[in-house]
Amino acid sequence: MHPRYSPRHLLLLHLLLPSLISCLSAYQESSIANALDHSHGYSDSRYHHPDFSTNDGKDTDLKHIFPGSLNFEAKVVARLDQANAPASSAKVVNVDDFGAKADGTDDSQAFKKAWEEACSSNGSAIIVIPKNKVYYLKPVTFSGPCESDLVFKIFGTIKASAKISDYENDRRHWLVFQNVQNFRVKGGGTIDGNGKIWWENSCKINKSQPCQHAPTAVTFLESKSLIVANLRFQNAQQMHLSFQNCVNVRALNLMVIAPGTSPNTDGIHVTGTQNIRIRKCVIRTGDDCISIVSGSKNVEATDITCGPGHGISIGSLGADNSEAEVSNVFVNRATISGTTNGVRIKTWQGGSGYAKNIVFQNVVMRNVTNPIIINQNYCDQDNPCTEQTSAVQISNVKYKNIKGTSASDVAVNFDCSKSIPCRGILLQDVNIALVEDGQPDASCANVNLTKRGEVYPQCS
Ligand SMILES: *[C@@H]1O[C@H](CO)[C@@H](O)[C@H](O)[C@H]1NC(C)=O
Ligand SMILES: *[C@@H]1O[C@H](CO)[C@@H](O)[C@H](O)[C@H]1NC(C)=O
Ligand SMILES: *[C@@H]1O[C@H](CO)[C@@H](O)[C@H](O)[C@H]1NC(C)=O
Ligand SMILES: *[C@@H]1O[C@H](CO)[C@@H](O)[C@H](O)[C@H]1NC(C)=O
Repeated sequence: MHPRYSPRHLLLLHLLLPSLISCLSAYQESSIANALDHSHGYSDSRYHHPDFSTNDGKDTDLKHIFPGSLNFEAKVVARLDQANAPASSAKVVNVDDFGAKADGTDDSQAFKKAWEEACSSNGSAIIVIPKNKVYYLKPVTFSGPCESDLVFKIFGTIKASAKISDYENDRRHWLVFQNVQNFRVKGGGTIDGNGKIWWENSCKINKSQPCQHAPTAVTFLESKSLIVANLRFQNAQQMHLSFQNCVNVRALNLMVIAPGTSPNTDGIHVTGTQNIRIRKCVIRTGDDCISIVSGSKNVEATDITCGPGHGISIGSLGADNSEAEVSNVFVNRATISGTTNGVRIKTWQGGSGYAKNIVFQNVVMRNVTNPIIINQNYCDQDNPCTEQTSAVQISNVKYKNIKGTSASDVAVNFDCSKSIPCRGILLQDVNIALVEDGQPDASCANVNLTKRGEVYPQCS
């Protein structure tokens, strides 16, 4: 006997189908999140309370570090989810309808037209980049302000033109989102900088080449209230993702992948940006996993997996006698493997300004060359740097619960400025062994250090 579909069956199907469909479409995005959830040595519940205390010992919580940002987040998520919800309220703008071919030719014009259409829409709009297709783009700037909130949904792959001559107007950028607000980029797809040609021509790889800039794959410039989530960034020409002069940013569930040998391919770069939360990201590249530079304030990075690369870095700051200001950086729960540095602060001599109120906590190091390092004599130029008296002041930096292994003999290295020493540096529950047999050292110059709990190794 054949099974029959009774009205009851149909009703059941009717009830289940929408949730089945939404489960399936959520799958691709959540699989990244799941991969991340299992990649940490710490469970979410165990270290739930971020601890950020000021110099005078008063503990404050995240609400104080990010005034207003939690509210902001709830509001933005609610608003952007509305933009995402029923097709009746949001206009769907598919790049294919604007002539994108995804056949290996340049789709830049189609993307620009789709952007103009969406950006000038008087209701919220969703730009769709269909899945299972690869769209090639030359450098494109997507500029706001837009009439309403936008979602940029990348299901497929966006790949960079590999012709260096396509970048002759601006060698520093590939995709730029500029002056946008309440903007969300997501979709589970891939942004591929196709960077091999740039790496081969980098002066760090081919010494007979002049040192020139290569493009950052994706730059968010002067924008506000952004969410960048559930995406893969790979093989950037230089940096993968940069937030420059932005306010209120969430970067969530990102995979950032490039060969460990690719030059200057920072994962996520934060410059002049305030109130940014980077969460659940896996970053494996040839340079800094996350780099935080001047003008950045209220930066939180949680559940980060790094390596290969150069680790999590504040700086470099104060190059060319510049003034730099970085404050309120909170790194919580990171696993850093096989990198040249673990958690680093680096400044040039001769700079001014400060890097202050910084917490690195619950970090697992695996075979990291410089697990904990402050370098105030940073010098990355051909001519040797001369000794100068001014420096970026480093103060109130806490290292809490940092465990694991060092690849080099010096597991803890504070090389602070002679004229402006590091102040208020706390090591609490630090235990770093050598990856090989033997005992690591700590090297401490011009630093005012406090220890709590077990601290190993200690300065002699
Ligand atoms: C949006 O534009 C359409 C057509 O131009 C118009 O009919 C509609 O009233 C506008 N809606 C809003 C909310 O302004
Ligand atoms: C390095 O660059 C020089 C100058 O452009 C070029 O002639 C040479 O082929 C390059 N070497 C490699 C290994 O690509
Ligand atoms: C540690 O890293 C070095 C390279 O920095 C590598 O040669 C070595 O095999 C690694 N050791 C372990 C135990 O992973
Ligand atoms: C270190 O800090 C303590 C207390 O804050 C202060 O009394 C002392 O002078 C400082 N030492 C140096 C070398 O700066």
